[in-house]
Amino acid sequence: MLACSTLLASVAVAGIAAAANSKIAVCAGCHGKDGNSVNPTLYPNLTGQSEAYLTLAIKSYKDGSRSNGPMKIMVDTLTDQDISELAAFFASQRCR
Ligand code: HEC
Repeated sequence: MLACSTLLASVAVAGIAAAANSKIAVCAGCHGKDGNSVNPTLYPNLTGQSEAYLTLAIKSYKDGSRSNGPMKIMVDTLTDQDISELAAFFASQRCR
């Protein structure tokens, strides 16, 4: 996992974030509403990760190539559009 300090701001995601809001709410229970985990010992921070990495991670849970903990069930119903919105949103958030 990348350190928080490696955060690179991603471009113009405000509109995307609004559209993805209801999906973000699902993730927020564990990863925090801004990607800063509610409990970093149990759930990884999603801030500070690149959009490309988050997209790959989510797709890997979905297709089963990465499987651990509750993530498969969380991403099972996401469309490609949902995944790119969520990845863009969390990649754009700041570390606390
Ligand atoms: C019930 C708690 C829970 C919820 C809700 C949840 N996750 Fe996760 N998530 C986890 C855990 C635990 C891991 C670590 C699993 C592992 O070791 O691969 C994880 C890992 C991840 C990773 C990989 C992070 C990394 O550093 O490799 C991503 C990306 C991710 N989750 C995205 C999401 C998204 C997007 C949502 C909402 C659709 C979501 N998660 C909802 C618990 C949760």
